[in-house]
Amino acid sequence: MKLSILFAALLSSLVSAQLSGTVGPSTTTAHKAATKVCNILSYGGVASKTTDNGPAIASAWAACASGGEVYIPAGDYGLSTFVTLTGGTAVSINLDGVIYRTGSTASGNMIFIEHTTDFEFYSSTSAGAIQGYGYTFHAAGTYGPRILRLYEVVNFSVHDIALVDSPAFHFTMDTCSNGEVYNMIIRGGNEGGLDGIDIWGTNIWVHDVEVTNKDECVTVKSPASYMLIESIYCNWSGGSAIGSLGADTDIHHITYNHVYTQNSNQMMLIKSNGGSGSVYSCQFNNFMGHSNAYTLDIDGYWSSETTAAGNGVLFHDLSFSHWHGTCANGGTRAPIQALCPSGAPCYNIDIEAFYIWTEAGSEVLYKCENAYGAGGCVKTATASSYTAWAITTKTVTSVPVASYSATTMAADLTAGFALTASIAIPTVPSSFYPGLAPLSAKLG
Ligand SMILES: *[C@@H]1O[C@H](CO)[C@@H](O)[C@H](O)[C@H]1NC(C)=O
Ligand SMILES: *[C@@H]1O[C@H](CO)[C@@H](O)[C@H](O)[C@H]1NC(C)=O
Repeated sequence: MKLSILFAALLSSLVSAQLSGTVGPSTTTAHKAATKVCNILSYGGVASKTTDNGPAIASAWAACASGGEVYIPAGDYGLSTFVTLTGGTAVSINLDGVIYRTGSTASGNMIFIEHTTDFEFYSSTSAGAIQGYGYTFHAAGTYGPRILRLYEVVNFSVHDIALVDSPAFHFTMDTCSNGEVYNMIIRGGNEGGLDGIDIWGTNIWVHDVEVTNKDECVTVKSPASYMLIESIYCNWSGGSAIGSLGADTDIHHITYNHVYTQNSNQMMLIKSNGGSGSVYSCQFNNFMGHSNAYTLDIDGYWSSETTAAGNGVLFHDLSFSHWHGTCANGGTRAPIQALCPSGAPCYNIDIEAFYIWTEAGSEVLYKCENAYGAGGCVKTATASSYTAWAITTKTVTSVPVASYSATTMAADLTAGFALTASIAIPTVPSSFYPGLAPLSAKLG
C-alpha cells in the first residue's frame, strides 16, 4: 500500500467514528476527466447570462453520464430550463462558472441530480456559484424553485461551490448515502422557507459550511443515520435542527461538532409534535455562539408543527457537551429547553459543560418536562420506568463557573439579507469555526 493511501485510509477511519463507512466518490475527478470531458460550450452552451444553458447542461450530462466530467468553464451562464440529471455513474460536474436563474418556473429545482453513483459536483477554482435571484419571488411574497436537490445519490461529494439567494430551499439531499459536503457557502434572504442544507439518508459527512438565511442551517430529517456534521458556521440563520419529526421517526447516530451560531433562532432544535418512532444515540459537542433566541432546544410540542398521530417521538441517549457563549435574553427564552412528550418521556439526556450566559438581564431559565438524564433541569432517573412530569423552570442567577465567553468570528453578519434586492455572490470562506482551518483545503 502506498504511504499516501495508507494515510488517507487512516484519516478516513479517524473521521468516520460517527460514519458507517467510506464517504465520497469512488473515483477521482482526474480519472473522470481522463475518461471524457463534456464541455457545455461543445453542447450548445453559451457563456452569457441571458442564454438558456439548460439544454446544453442536459446534453453534456447525457454524453458524460456513464463516465466523464461535465465542464462548465469560468463565465456567466443563464439557466431558464431547469435540469434533471439522472442515472450517472462515475461522473463529475466541474462548475468553474456562475449559473444565473433566468427561468420563472415557480417550483422544482434548478438542478436535480438523481439515481447517480460515484458523483462529484465541485468547482476546481472554488469560484463556481449558482445565483438563484430569489428576491424576484420574495419581493412579491412568493417562493420559487429550489437551487439544488440530490435524490438517491450514492458515493458522492459536493464542494467548493456557493449557492446564493435561492427562491426556496438551497440544497436538499433526499435518501442519499456515502456523501461528503464541504467548503460551501450558502447565502439566502432573511425569511423562513429558505433552508440551507436539509439531509436525510445515511453515512454523510458535512463539514466546513457557512449558511446565512432565516431558516434551517444544516438540518437532519427522518430517516437518517450515521451523519457527522462539523465545523458549521450559521452566520445569521435559523440555526441547525433535527426535524420536524412526525410518525415513524427513525434517526440515530448523528453527531454535530464545532457548530458556531450567531443571531439565529437557535443553536440546536430537535422538533416534534406528536408522532412516533425515535431519535437516539446522537451527540452535540462544542457549540459556540452569541445573540441567538433559543440555544439548546428539545421541543416535543413544537407549536409551528401540526400535531402528528402518535404518543410523541421518543428521544433517548442524546448528549450535549461544551456549549459556550451567550443567548439574546435567557430570562425570556430559556437557553436549555428539554420539553419531551408526556406520552414518551425522554431519557439519558445528558447535558454537561454548558456555559451559556445572557446578553440581556441577569438570569437565565432552564425549562424541562418529562426529561430524564443529567444536567440542566432534567431529572435523574431512579427507576427503570420513566414517568411523565409537568414542566419545571429553574432560574440560574450567576454566570456559569467556567468562562462563558465565546470567541466571535471576524465580521459576523449584523443584519440579514434583504428580500427585495439581489444578494452578492460571496467567496467560499477559509474558516467556519473560530480558530479552525477547514478539514480539507479549499481548491481555489
Ligand atoms: C459505494 O462505495 C462503496 C465503498 O467504496 C462500494 O463498496 C459500493 O459498491 C459503492 N456503491 C455503489 C452503488 O457504487
Ligand atoms: C459573515 O457574513 C458577513 C457578511 O457577509 C461577512 O462579512 C463575514 O465575512 C462572514 N463571516 C465569515 C467569518 O465569513
